[in-house]
Amino acid sequence: MPIIQENPQTHPSSDKRFKMLTATMKRYQYSADALIEVLHQAQELFGYLEEDLLLYIAHSLKLPPSRVYGVATFYHFFSLKQKGAHTCVVCMGTACYVKGAANLLATLEQQYQVKIGETTADNQLSLVTARCLGACGIAPAVVVDGKVAGYQTADLVIHRVEECLHHGS
Ligand code: FES
Repeated sequence: MPIIQENPQTHPSSDKRFKMLTATMKRYQYSADALIEVLHQAQELFGYLEEDLLLYIAHSLKLPPSRVYGVATFYHFFSLKQKGAHTCVVCMGTACYVKGAANLLATLEQQYQVKIGETTADNQLSLVTARCLGACGIAPAVVVDGKVAGYQTADLVIHRVEECLHHGS
């Protein structure tokens, strides 16, 4: 269920943790520079950073979701549900979907024998999807180890993932 709403100071859920997170963002005056601190607190409060949480933070700090995903997947101390040494986020939002994101995803699943939201058996690669990375103009967009790239084709994505797996990010 999407939890994005217009006023960043409130959250529709009655979960107290959101209140605490909102208070932290308020303390930093919703500054984009506080992203890492906010993500830290979110992870402490929730245990890991799930998609809705990342989108809520992006919306509150007025940052493109791609930036928030990028930071959350780049640093090892942040964890999205299950995390391998490397992370690939395929945007499945409308713009990316119509430009072939489903094909990218299927290629990645087949190539690395991994399903969405899971990590390869060797813990090297986690495959994640997003609803919209805020980069629709360059659809289809994929974030590999924190770096967003657009106009992706199956070959380009596999190439980027291979680079990360074999040479680091
Ligand atoms: S739908 Fe993919 S970046 Fe917006």
